[in-house]
Amino acid sequence: MSAQQFIQDHKERFLNELLDLLRIPSVSADPKFKDEVFQAANFVKESLIKAGADTAEICQTAGYPIVYGEKIIDPALPTVLVYGHYDVQPADPYELWDSPPFEPVIKKTKIHPEGAIFARGSADDKGQFYMHVKAFEAMMATDELPCNVKFMIEGEEEVGSDNLDQFVIENKEKLKADVILISDTHMISMQDPSITVGLRGMAYMEVEVTGSNRDLHSGTYGGAVANPINVLCDLIASMKDENEHITIPGFYDKVQELTAEQRSRLNEAPFDLQEYKSKLDIDEVHGEKGYTTIERVGIRPTLDVNGIWGGYTGEGAKTVLPSKAYAKISMRLVPDQDWKEIAKLFEDYFRSKAPASVRVNVKSHHGGAPAVVSDSSVGYKAAEAAMEETFGKRPIPTREGGSIPIVALFQKELGSDPILFGFGLDTDALHSPNEHYGVQNYFIGIETIAAFFRHFRKLSEA
Ligand code: BES
Ligand code: MN
Ligand code: MN
Repeated sequence: MSAQQFIQDHKERFLNELLDLLRIPSVSADPKFKDEVFQAANFVKESLIKAGADTAEICQTAGYPIVYGEKIIDPALPTVLVYGHYDVQPADPYELWDSPPFEPVIKKTKIHPEGAIFARGSADDKGQFYMHVKAFEAMMATDELPCNVKFMIEGEEEVGSDNLDQFVIENKEKLKADVILISDTHMISMQDPSITVGLRGMAYMEVEVTGSNRDLHSGTYGGAVANPINVLCDLIASMKDENEHITIPGFYDKVQELTAEQRSRLNEAPFDLQEYKSKLDIDEVHGEKGYTTIERVGIRPTLDVNGIWGGYTGEGAKTVLPSKAYAKISMRLVPDQDWKEIAKLFEDYFRSKAPASVRVNVKSHHGGAPAVVSDSSVGYKAAEAAMEETFGKRPIPTREGGSIPIVALFQKELGSDPILFGFGLDTDALHSPNEHYGVQNYFIGIETIAAFFRHFRKLSEA
């Protein structure tokens, strides 16, 4: 029996196992779910053993563990390293979910007429990394595994992968591979398969603005004492001009400008602005002047407020001049911006612009480097051939706006450009209520991964 046939014959079980994994609320950001995050790590380890790994271990870190497993069939053959993450984003706000986030259900949607799995983590990243476990199982069960394989599945991706860098640096020999596969990104659509070759980096800041030493009556003091919320809004507004260009001095110094040719090639990717707007229920898009939507998310940096709070937000009205205001602000970065430098530029700007009537506190949360990977490596070509085989269409290289900071670390420490072999769609609602992953995406992903192994072995020998 072929691996492809094995996949066909075990679809129901492959799906049910994923649903079991999705029932574990492995939210890395919230300490309340600590036990569940460990439980998910165990699930991953067990699933690797059952699929046929020689070894699988839970590697403790200062935070959540990294699950490592491998199957070495012949040291002389090429080795594939699979990276993914078993942690998920918080599911809040729960009331916006149509079904409970950790009780997966399969429902048909317009984009997924064959059904999609609704659950937190279904697309990001449990449904995606688990495809690799199942492809591995299918190849093992049918004696068709053509390459050695190593798995490194972490539990802190959604909180910045604080302990992964050290693990990678300390385990270079163990992680040695000829290609790295990561399924944690999107394709353009089921009709237009694509492979991601660029991801943005990130600098995540939190600011606190303090006015008076206590909340004040807004009549007695209003107009005479700084309102930190007003000041915070002014400061945020001052960070972009009328063209949505970021005004922080030095911010664009290291931004790589693409050539006219590179830009036009990027814009050849299928993109329907009308459809994009209608899916989001917006009348107009919004962004930096002079760039298309594809460019705005793919090759340009941004600055966004993720949350802002302070003062009175309860029922009814309360007249108050608050003492404090806060905001969480993230900047998405592009090559060759350095997140530590950008965090410093942000801090300097914020401090220098703040009026003397307030005090400010600026904190840098986490960050990560942007990355661009090769679209001509052997691994890329194998991925291209695999997708062409299963989708019947040659995939297009694209640049995405999200961040996977480990990609740049892999390039630097392991000297290898990962293949961003994602099978999700941008409508999957990652990090949002009602996250889902197409059942068909899941199965075609498993098939394509198995095909990748075949092509990679063949192309490596050529
Ligand atoms: N899988 C995403 C990254 C992603 C999403 C890449 C969509 C391409 C398309 C990943 O889990 C994620 O959410 N990353 C964080 C960054 C991290 C430092 C918290 C992000 O992009 O916000
Ligand atoms: Mn992810
Ligand atoms: Mn994510």
